[in-house]
Amino acid sequence: MTALSVSTSSAASLRAEALVIGVAKGPKGVVLAPGTEAVNEAFEGKLAEILGTLGATGAEGEAVKVPSPAGVKAGFVLAVGLGEAGDEGFEPEALRHAAGVAARTLAGVKKAALALPAESAAEVEAVALGGLLGSYAFGTYKGKGNGKEPVGELVVLAPRKGSKDAKAAVERAAAVGEEMNRARDLVNLAPNDLTPKSFAATVQAAAKEHGLKVEVLDEKALTKGGYGGLMGVGGGSVNPPRLVKVAYTHPKAESTLAFVGKGITYDSGGISLKPAGYNETMKCDMAGAAAVFAAVVAAKRLGLAVNVTGWLALAENMPSGSAVRPGDVLRIYGGKTVEVLNTDAEGRLVLADALVRAGEENPDVIVDVATLTGAMVMALGTRTFGVMSNNDELRADLHALAGEVGEESWPMPMPAHLRKGMTESTIADLANMGERMGGGLVAGLFLQEFVAEGTDWAHLDIAGPAYHEGAPFGYTPKGGTASGVRTLVAFAERTATGKA
Ligand code: BES
Ligand code: MN
Ligand code: ZN
Repeated sequence: MTALSVSTSSAASLRAEALVIGVAKGPKGVVLAPGTEAVNEAFEGKLAEILGTLGATGAEGEAVKVPSPAGVKAGFVLAVGLGEAGDEGFEPEALRHAAGVAARTLAGVKKAALALPAESAAEVEAVALGGLLGSYAFGTYKGKGNGKEPVGELVVLAPRKGSKDAKAAVERAAAVGEEMNRARDLVNLAPNDLTPKSFAATVQAAAKEHGLKVEVLDEKALTKGGYGGLMGVGGGSVNPPRLVKVAYTHPKAESTLAFVGKGITYDSGGISLKPAGYNETMKCDMAGAAAVFAAVVAAKRLGLAVNVTGWLALAENMPSGSAVRPGDVLRIYGGKTVEVLNTDAEGRLVLADALVRAGEENPDVIVDVATLTGAMVMALGTRTFGVMSNNDELRADLHALAGEVGEESWPMPMPAHLRKGMTESTIADLANMGERMGGGLVAGLFLQEFVAEGTDWAHLDIAGPAYHEGAPFGYTPKGGTASGVRTLVAFAERTATGKA
């Protein structure tokens, strides 16, 4: 794992293999970002010109290397693009993005310094988090020499004034970034290595390490407790389901949040089997549970004055002689019955159990996170998650918070008429499918049926951004992204401080 530290040394004097500086898009080509004056002097004032000759324009995503002259202690200078500067400098997301590009470019390097334009603690935090997220590499299955080691150490350069705040900011970035990278690892693990049981064991180990309370319901306890959703969906697999509760409490907390995560360790579709081409990435179907797990641990590491309970609904959706059939009726925890019309609409079934169970403890707000529907990906694309809620203000809050921490999201409606398709012409209280059109909204309406009236609830459908199949960009690698974690942490943070 990449080590993160902070230093108030000057950019030119820090000893490292690489020195990362920022460049921006100016009206007449590439310009140097603030804080590069001394480095530019060592280049006899010609650094922008040199970088321009090498093709740099200052656009986001760009990374250009130049060997260092005497006067710069680092071996080489890496200039990364920040895009156009705004009136108040650069957006935190531009800093995270640039730091991420730098960290990815520097794979194989032992030590690098990040001298990006970061004055405030928030800017220092953005650089640190982008660097840590960009350094991520999933190496579990690759032999040595079959890929570069991630950059060994990242030193974030911060102004001398406010260096205490800068140190705290880097520690916060480490808490969030390391837990996000852990969530990415869980998503990237092959589904033969991550089962409901092993996922639960991972949570138990982390809970022990961080002093969190954890309870695991195994298949026996789930059967006895009447968790028909989890038992039904998990019924076709040799790897039985689990419901994990992992709780962080703070003595001064005035609110309790419940985060509920969809944790399908593999979604084959079940008897309503997915065709080839649609199941190769379905190990990612536990990304919601991984996000919830990461957020609870991060809340603890940040010491937030709020109680956060995570509920992970873990099961493997497989076809077999014991699998749930289209036509079966399941009894969800709490008593509502669901006719399963399509076994591939399994996420809502396991979430239903978990939502009812989470609601029993009367949290102030419930937020669930799930790779729930292909329809949401159709609607919003692969980088944006949908936000639905039974409370418009909560929905707007989460959408705004997500934007502040660099997660793209969009508010989605819950049209009441779509509920009809799930209740009519079924022998049970509900069917697990309704109208095909607006499938993401139908799924959200289904979940709402399992939230007690009067309880504030929101649903993040992260099916698009949870797993990145294209080439890496910014601080986003291929594979698991840890989508949702930063929004959950920001929400817990906001709840703790009571800031509106
Ligand atoms: N896990 C899938 C949704 C998904 C799709 C996640 C693409 C990530 C990327 C979910 O369980 C599913 O199969 N949903 C069905 C629901 C349908 C049968 C009502 C879908 O979206 O097609
Ligand atoms: Mn499915
Ligand atoms: Zn699924």
